[in-house]
Amino acid sequence: MADSSIQSILREHRLFWPSESFAQAAHIGSRAQYEQLAAQAREDPEGFWAEQATRELEWFTPWNQVLDWQPPSARWFVGAKLNITHNCLDRHLQTWRRNKAALIWEGELGDTRTLTYSQLHWEVCQFANALRALGVEEGDRVGIYLPLIPEAAIAMLACARLGAIHTVVFGGFSAEALRERLIHCQVKLVVTADGGWRKDAIVPLKAQVDQALVGVETVKNVLVVQRTATPITMEPGRDHWWHDLRQGMSAVCPPVDLDSEHPLFVLYTSGSTGKPKGVVHTTGGYNLYTHLTTKWIFDLRDTDVYWCTADVGWVTGHSYVVYGPLSNGATILMYEGAPRTSRPGCTWELIEKYQVSVFYTAPTAIRAALRQGEHLPRACDLSSLRLLGTVGEPINPEAWIWFYRVVGGERCPIVDTWWQTETGGIMVSALPGAVPLKPGSATLPFPGIQADVVNHKGEGVPPNSGGYLVVRYPWPGMARTLYGDEERFRRTYWEHIPGQLYFSGDGARRDEEGYFWVMGRVDDVINVAGHRLGTMEIEAALASHPVVAEAAVVGRPDPVKGEEIVAFVILEQGSSYHEGLHQALKQHVVQEIGAIARPGEIHFTEALPKTRSGKILRRLLRSVAAGEEVTGDTSTLEDRAALDQLRETN
Ligand code: WTA
Repeated sequence: MADSSIQSILREHRLFWPSESFAQAAHIGSRAQYEQLAAQAREDPEGFWAEQATRELEWFTPWNQVLDWQPPSARWFVGAKLNITHNCLDRHLQTWRRNKAALIWEGELGDTRTLTYSQLHWEVCQFANALRALGVEEGDRVGIYLPLIPEAAIAMLACARLGAIHTVVFGGFSAEALRERLIHCQVKLVVTADGGWRKDAIVPLKAQVDQALVGVETVKNVLVVQRTATPITMEPGRDHWWHDLRQGMSAVCPPVDLDSEHPLFVLYTSGSTGKPKGVVHTTGGYNLYTHLTTKWIFDLRDTDVYWCTADVGWVTGHSYVVYGPLSNGATILMYEGAPRTSRPGCTWELIEKYQVSVFYTAPTAIRAALRQGEHLPRACDLSSLRLLGTVGEPINPEAWIWFYRVVGGERCPIVDTWWQTETGGIMVSALPGAVPLKPGSATLPFPGIQADVVNHKGEGVPPNSGGYLVVRYPWPGMARTLYGDEERFRRTYWEHIPGQLYFSGDGARRDEEGYFWVMGRVDDVINVAGHRLGTMEIEAALASHPVVAEAAVVGRPDPVKGEEIVAFVILEQGSSYHEGLHQALKQHVVQEIGAIARPGEIHFTEALPKTRSGKILRRLLRSVAAGEEVTGDTSTLEDRAALDQLRETN
């Protein structure tokens, strides 16, 4: 059945319209309303954003200028003062939402906690006071390395309350990767836990922090949340248990008045060089942009139970687990664990148990569920769902249809949301009550977003031609800079294409109806299971192993993960291949970066295809990795024999 419906979609180019009742109840309920908002924002962007900022958020002091745009430097709501935690917490306490569930959490062991807005506010204030007692001040950087437990959100909000800048590092990153980020960001304090549960095992977070901090001078204190009761060492004077410190800690902590452009967080993401980039987001514009996109794209209502499965270590966890939903006063479900073999149906059981109505996840998770079979979701009552969403990578029509049919019961629109760490929030997505869907397309830009597909000169390309996905005008949620590296910010995003356009690094096409079809990265970044990884980072990790002389890494299409990591390795003179080397090198990458970067395949070779100027021809390696015929221009290849040899070894 799935097959025949997919076939017909491809043939008919069928559009999936929201039901009349969905559209009628939606915040944006018709195509005409979408067009009108998009037109208003195009004609008067500053007027549009100012109107939304006034209507949707509370400001301590109003702005005197909406946008100061000196490419590539943007300042939004110049002169205004606010605190994002006031919008996420305090203002709801003045309403009936005071005792509404803000956060419903379930741990992997089945333990649960629910925090109302009033309780969350209490926890955040206490945590903020604890940070302050440990010397954290406005502008200081705080590292957060936690499992997905309520304290992850609490710690982020506590930083924001004080004007401290958080940098969350995903708990799956290794000690080495953590160390690199803490040093780069000059972090003063780290918040961690003794351990966290993931796939029936304990991740030893505190032990990793200990390892990461050896010789790191800037970190003066470590605040430890008890989660797994794993034995750990506590360094006197540096390490503090959160449950001890909070004893008697006041829960009165007024939010600090912050400039609209005060940095809110730094989040490291992969780029096309060996070093991760610290993307900087600021307060006012980010608050508005995540708030409005959450409200309109997830069509949030007060009665919704909203579940975004992302970890707070990724930007999706920042914008659509914490800030966007809380600013809207939503009820958020947070689950500590990950889908795993011992409990394969847990996603669907949680949806039934908590009556989830809006469910936002990654295509890789959908493809994994599709492989496990329909019987698991069918065994649960999923009738509470009314809206589905995907993020992180293109979704193939087969997975889309399965999600629509089996999970959504053919009644829930799917918002396929395209965006990036740098954009702060969703840029291209359907507004589900207004825009008919096409499986595999992220559909249309959010009102106020002037997205386009252009050639290398910055000229728009005709419908259905491939090009670079760019944004022509600033938006409130955009990254302001890369931490400590303005020059790289300029070079990476603003100089590739003439005309002061923001270059996303993605290729895309637009069809004759203006729908965007994102084709994936055009740079040396790959997307594995929805996680963005720089091939050069993995190459650097491999090359740091004593037997490796040189390494090249590419992505190969994978039916579940989207892409799989394939490495080509040249050994040092005098080192020879032995049985355990595959494993040893994979393990080395895990140690250097984390399990998410473990190569699926390693090929040992004596030469790599390079241009005369020494640049590795990744296009050729990609073909070799995918087992395809190598076609196209090979004229720049320095040594044809290298290519022939590679083909033989595969
Ligand atoms: C990819 C995640 C196709 C894209 C929010 C982008 C997508 C990168 C989609 C950003 C989508 C994200 N369709 N591709 N709906 N969403 N991507 O920074 O290549 O972790 O550049 O942010 O993911 O990854 P990041």
